Amino acid sequence: MSDNNHHCVIIGIAGASASGKSLIASTIYKELKEKVGDHQIGVITEDRYYRDQSHLSMEERVKTNYDHPQALDHDLLCEHLEALVAGQSVDVPVYSYSEHTRMAETTTMTPKKVIILEGILLLTDPRLRNLIHASVFMDTPLDICLLRRMKRDVAERGRTMDSVMEQYQKTVRPMFMQFIEPSKQYADIIVPRGGKNRIAIDVLKAHIARLLKA
Ligand code: C5P
Ligand code: MG
Repeated sequence: MSDNNHHCVIIGIAGASASGKSLIASTIYKELKEKVGDHQIGVITEDRYYRDQSHLSMEERVKTNYDHPQALDHDLLCEHLEALVAGQSVDVPVYSYSEHTRMAETTTMTPKKVIILEGILLLTDPRLRNLIHASVFMDTPLDICLLRRMKRDVAERGRTMDSVMEQYQKTVRPMFMQFIEPSKQYADIIVPRGGKNRIAIDVLKAHIARLLKA
């Protein structure tokens, strides 16, 4: 599929792990879908672009620092975003948190008018910042993020409480301090409290609508 006149607005949502990025992205998606049209808005999660680790043992995969920019294949993510902007469909990888690697299958994404991109390390990469039209940083307190992460990773990502605590101290928190928190300077909008911040959702929806009209 190719359509050179395709107009595509990319919104980037960054912030700590479990800060409410996915929640605000899916809320905006659901609420805008009706206005923009079902097939004209989509969400891409940076997590889908964690590098393939199928050649490594489970023991080695567990040791990977998943909060360092190198764990992610931003080359592929940029390539896909550029293709979508150019009006071409892409095959988005499917990632398994419990297996710590990419799955064999992919999901096809067709070009959209609006793409909501969400992920911890988006704003650390100048190429991604360049592709994003408006950027958001979820400034949720870290203690709230940690509580959410513990609950979620045990319930949804096949982890134990001990493994969540160990990973948090070894990599999640240090990498937040080193890479994620400093990337806040690149955000256009800083959202306090979390993904349920109603005014932030409405401001973003209004801004997207304005970008679409421009
Ligand atoms: O959804 P969220 O932004 O929390 O996802 C990013 C988090 O996923 C990172 O903080 C990283 O530690 C975690 N992750 C993981 N295991 C993987 C891949 C990512 O714990 N295999
Ligand atoms: Mg998420």
